[in-house]
Amino acid sequence: MIMDIELHPHEVKILKVLKKKSTPEEVAEAACIPLDAVMRASSWLATKNLVKVEEKIAQEVSLDKEGLLYAEKGLPERRLIEACGEGASLADAKKAFSEAEVNIALGWLSKKKQAILEKGFIRVIDRKKTGDEKLLEMLKGSGTLNSEELSPEMKEGLELLKKRKEVVKVSEKRKIWLLPTEEGVKMGQSTQAEAISQLTPELLLSRGWKEKKFRPYDVDVYVKPAYPAKRHPLQRLIAEIRDIFAEMGFAEISGPLVESAFWNFDALFQPQDHPARDMHDTFYLKNPKSVGIPNFEKYKGKVKKTHEDGWTTGSTGWGGKWSEDVAKRPILRTHTTAVTCRYLSTLKKEDLPAKVFSIGKVFRNEAIDYKHLPEFYQVEGIVVDPNANFTNLIGILKQFYNEMGFTKVRFRPGYFPYTEMSIEPEVYLEGRGWIELGGSGIFRPEVVKPLLGFDCPVLAWGLGLDRIVTLALGMKDIRDLYMSDIDWLKEN
Ligand code: PHE
Repeated sequence: MIMDIELHPHEVKILKVLKKKSTPEEVAEAACIPLDAVMRASSWLATKNLVKVEEKIAQEVSLDKEGLLYAEKGLPERRLIEACGEGASLADAKKAFSEAEVNIALGWLSKKKQAILEKGFIRVIDRKKTGDEKLLEMLKGSGTLNSEELSPEMKEGLELLKKRKEVVKVSEKRKIWLLPTEEGVKMGQSTQAEAISQLTPELLLSRGWKEKKFRPYDVDVYVKPAYPAKRHPLQRLIAEIRDIFAEMGFAEISGPLVESAFWNFDALFQPQDHPARDMHDTFYLKNPKSVGIPNFEKYKGKVKKTHEDGWTTGSTGWGGKWSEDVAKRPILRTHTTAVTCRYLSTLKKEDLPAKVFSIGKVFRNEAIDYKHLPEFYQVEGIVVDPNANFTNLIGILKQFYNEMGFTKVRFRPGYFPYTEMSIEPEVYLEGRGWIELGGSGIFRPEVVKPLLGFDCPVLAWGLGLDRIVTLALGMKDIRDLYMSDIDWLKEN
């Protein structure tokens, strides 16, 4: 049975030298292999029950600053009773030592019951060396000592020394010993010279390999896991989504995080008193009070008209007065649809059909809980095509979610001020049910005409990303995505 076990050359070397309980350092030296190789091979030997690995936390004691001084000159109380002879008056003692020194020394002398102060006279009772002094001497000789190896008297002495400032340093060290099991001993005697694991030029030249035994490669051998650098799971998924849309023929666009209310709301035909613009949802910037909008002159008239009376879009508009100042207020974009709007305004008739997508952070003043964060990612896309229709939109979204690994997808009616029809896609997750992931629809003429200059079907969607990632990773809480728990990141 034993003979069947395949051993690594290092394991064989260790078994050959390991006769009794030894430290890894001793084994490394005797076997002529590096210490970390000894550690690795001994853990393999331990799982094969050929070696036992014993581990203990040991306290190592050494002298600190003050301790070095005391070891040289003696403890203050020792120096005092030496100076006193049979006994001395307190006044005499204070001539030879500073007041502080005398006080410290007397304190310790009475604690150790070596002398007492009687009517201004120091009477020595016991001059024997105490445990703490013996320990100081030993430490002076050896530098460090293992607290395990101290006699009871020395241990008491150590406790006394620990009460003084900067006398001893105590550090914890992990100590490891290796000892062969009975089987290990037998194996050590019976195993023949090592099989070779590497073919060297020398072996080839000398044809020595013909006589050698080769060690088979063992893929089950335990090695310490190595964690390569890698992208955060969220970034990995974003890259995947990018690929999915690219493969479906979409080009990527991007836009700024700090946006004007104009591109975020007004261009999307969201009335200026719309509740979503409320302070509770939107982060407004304190400074500047207003931002410049490229080509504002070109669009503002049409957008204003559309809001006030519908312009030529066939709509009646929202009524009331549209304010330029409100449109110019800087905000953190609340959806990537702002990026879409900017892009739409740059399109010309000859650019159609156009298919673009964008991925980016958006911001909303939400209370944080397991499924809400004040900032999160959206993936947004549009198809601008005179031939596009509602069925195409459903097809694109279905394909996207299928490629993401969600096979069950459904669409519920929804409402957005800028789309008609409006739908909300949902995916089904075993054990979770239907999960809502964003919005979608066909842009209203009130959005398209002022920006594009003519009406044309624009299929549009904006989907939350963090929640899909959370679910795809089997996590319950969206906040965990941003915890940067290094162990989780390593293993993920
Ligand atoms: N902007 C919407 C949101 O943030 C999603 C959406 C995008 C809806 C495009 C319709 C069209 O929820």
